[in-house]
Amino acid sequence: MQAGTPDSPLRVAIIGSGPSGFYATEALFKAGLEVRVDMYEKLPVPFGLVRSGVAPDHPKIKNVTRVYDKIASDPRFCFWGNVTIGEDLTVEELKAHYHALIFTNGASSDRRLGIPGEDLARSYTATEFVAWYNGHPEYRDRQFDLSQESAVIIGQGNVAIDVCRILAKSVDELRQTDIASHAIEALAESKIKDIYMVGRRGPAQAAFTPQEAKELGELAISDVIVKPEDLQLSPIDEAELQLPDKGHNRKNMEILRDLAGRTVGARARRLHIAFFLSPVELKGNGALEEIVLEHNQLSGEPGRQKATGTGETITVPAGLLFRSVGYRGTPMPGVPFHESWGVFPNEKGRIEAGMYTAGWIKRGPSGIIGTNKPDSVETVQALIADTPNLTCLQPNSELLAARLKQKGVRVVSYSDWQKIDAAEIANGQKSGKSREKFTRVADMLALLDEADKA
Ligand SMILES: Cc1cc2nc3c(=O)[nH]c(=O)nc-3n(C[C@H](O)[C@H](O)[C@H](O)COP(=O)(O)OP(=O)(O)OC[C@H]3O[C@@H](n4cnc5c(N)ncnc54)[C@H](O)[C@@H]3O)c2cc1C
Ligand SMILES: NC(=O)c1ccc[n+]([C@@H]2O[C@H](COP(=O)([O-])OP(=O)(O)OC[C@H]3O[C@@H](n4cnc5c(N)ncnc54)[C@H](OP(=O)(O)O)[C@@H]3O)[C@@H](O)[C@H]2O)c1
Repeated sequence: MQAGTPDSPLRVAIIGSGPSGFYATEALFKAGLEVRVDMYEKLPVPFGLVRSGVAPDHPKIKNVTRVYDKIASDPRFCFWGNVTIGEDLTVEELKAHYHALIFTNGASSDRRLGIPGEDLARSYTATEFVAWYNGHPEYRDRQFDLSQESAVIIGQGNVAIDVCRILAKSVDELRQTDIASHAIEALAESKIKDIYMVGRRGPAQAAFTPQEAKELGELAISDVIVKPEDLQLSPIDEAELQLPDKGHNRKNMEILRDLAGRTVGARARRLHIAFFLSPVELKGNGALEEIVLEHNQLSGEPGRQKATGTGETITVPAGLLFRSVGYRGTPMPGVPFHESWGVFPNEKGRIEAGMYTAGWIKRGPSGIIGTNKPDSVETVQALIADTPNLTCLQPNSELLAARLKQKGVRVVSYSDWQKIDAAEIANGQKSGKSREKFTRVADMLALLDEADKA
């Protein structure tokens, strides 16, 4: 029977409830077919990195979840929270019950630097720090030693800027956000005075975007230090900045020049932005004490310049390091995986007929929330083109629900999530915060148990 008709609605399972999962759902609802979407999410709470990545002091960005709420209110949608695909249900099990699966499970791990000492104590990833201050349950019990006076952040993307800002702000500036309370308690004890954001290439190549860079100049308790000599551009840099896709970099240069021209005041903390340096070794007796950095020079055509070491190194004392050099996707049993790219290999979103992917696990860990919309639309177009050939052995979800119940998995529905949401907002109000997140799955499920009893 042809899928997508009233007699045989197209049944799609979406794995992951971040932006790409919601945009794929929206595209399916707009496709003009009879369709049903079951969205599986490993946490009891939706929204992926919008909840556990976007910085707490950027609340407006999180308003995008209102769009996702609207998509979720469609009667063709069902949320299956607290279900990990690959553990609670296998990909093979899902395949029997749906015409198509769309993997939108993001990139939860991190790229490695591959240098000696990388795993010393006090050498952390931005990934884990961000997830910790945002209250992700899997990172709830991480400890970050903020008793050091110097912190080095490797990488100059927007995630690195987020980490710098959180370290460079006072807790009074963060207290009313939805930052996890355990993070506020730890940050209140921070001894950090100097923060270094280190890039392997130059100012003209920095990956951060102008709006985020500009915010660094507005920090209340931190001075920003940029060395004017680092802003000297080579003729190749000048040519690079004239390229049509380098508008962000041109604006970054203006902002960096403004920051470099400021008089450094006497604020409690200093944020240094340093260029042309790569870490080559982390040293310490059990825990990080020193970082060996190599000076770089750039070579290559405009727009393709790469950093190569000059052989000249400096050793700087630093007791704390955050590697912010990009996220990385992880494999899932039953799905092909591209080991070096960390993605599910695909052609415009099609892994194979019946299996599709969108978002960071499709294209790699880059792009803002909005980038995921056209990306998911492209994937859904590939799926719709395959629809005449898609089949479903058991077109219902009841057997899956029974299997999960047998395994003791408490499936969290969207209305359950809305109860968690309401409780988090109410708990936040008690202490003047926009939201007090539950940071343990057990607490989220206990709340739902109580609500069920009432
Ligand atoms: C620290 C940080 C800050 C950011 N800030 C901004 C910002 O301010 N503005 C902006 O526009 N963009 C921002 N971005 C980018 C934006 O968050 C991403 O573009 C977007 O979240 C990617 O969406 P996604 O759906 O592909 O993945 P994700 O948002 O990561 O969603 C993946 C979802 O899949 C779930 N999942 C994973 N494995 C399984 C499994 N086995 N079974 C079931 N579910 C699973 C995860 O729990 C998660 O909910 C930020 C990114 C980071 C890392
Ligand atoms: N406010 C926002 O809108 C916001 C906030 C956070 C994240 N995001 C988005 O989320 C995406 C991911 O952000 P991201 O910061 O994780 O990644 P990113 O933008 O790709 O930046 C990664 C940084 O790491 C550096 N790097 C990579 N490998 C390195 C190595 N081996 N040694 C030294 N440096 C290395 C890169 O330098 P090179 O340039 O030399 O490779 C770059 O500076 C981006 O698209 C970002 O815009 C947006």
